[in-house]
Amino acid sequence: MDGERAAGRSVGLVPTMGFLHEGHASLVDAAVADNDVTVVSIFVNPLQFAPGEDLADYPRDLAADLEVCALHGADLVFHPTVDEMYPEAGMSAVEVGEVARPLEGASRPTHFPGVAAAAARLFGILGACSAYFGEKDFQQLAVVRRMVADLSMPVEVVGCPIVREVDGLALSSRNVYLTAAERAEAPVLHRALRAGAAVVSAGERDPAAVVSLMAGLIGRAVTAELDYAAVVRPDTFATPSLLGGPGHEVRLLVACRFGRARLIDNMAAVSP
Ligand code: PAJ
Repeated sequence: MDGERAAGRSVGLVPTMGFLHEGHASLVDAAVADNDVTVVSIFVNPLQFAPGEDLADYPRDLAADLEVCALHGADLVFHPTVDEMYPEAGMSAVEVGEVARPLEGASRPTHFPGVAAAAARLFGILGACSAYFGEKDFQQLAVVRRMVADLSMPVEVVGCPIVREVDGLALSSRNVYLTAAERAEAPVLHRALRAGAAVVSAGERDPAAVVSLMAGLIGRAVTAELDYAAVVRPDTFATPSLLGGPGHEVRLLVACRFGRARLIDNMAAVSP
């Protein structure tokens, strides 16, 4: 891709772990619309899974993924092996910033360093001019943005909106783990976020009240086991002591286990 870039053509990259759905496809559409050449990477990155997480079970379907990529106009699919991405032990790593510490970082301490390792290598290998990430993984987007800014990587990070099922459940490769009962209850995450965003826009000033409203709604779903509900500043991920001020935007985030599936979701909330 260096040749494309040197010839003045823009290269858009969509990093994925495969088992592509309409959420991933929306990133491909955005990259195709913005760039001369679009590359989709498909790599189930072992470094971002902790021992005991779902690395071995993570759903894979390369043939279907290639069809999605072709259908949405991707020019190239990069599907490296683990040895190609990580040829030696003891390789350089990226130390992720403060924004990686709370929430997902607290629940999964090795996750963001693993994401950063993969993203940095993909940016380097593919010579991307811009890279497309979903707001579905809102903290991941913030971590990658900070890495790119702090390390002066010549990549523009583009955030894209969350694609949802009609009942509000955010599309995720991990939704295949849900049983019928869990699938029926999982949209409670979206309902809780909407309820939280509604009280913020109605003038609630106390972030703890928003958190307990969301946690209470999710707690009513018998198959749900809440990991966290949180209200943070969208750029720093710091918890505000008080909400409010015109145009003040915060991000509401939830993580919840439904049986084998650990699902995350989030939404913007704006104070009056
Ligand atoms: P993966 O979970 O496959 O997601 C790839 C990209 O698709 C991420 O940027 C994610 O936010 C986006 N995405 C997933 N579901 C979405 C939805 N419902 N709407 C919009 N975008 C959605 O995230 C990863 O892979 C990995 O951590 C990766 C960045 C590839 C690094 O290994």
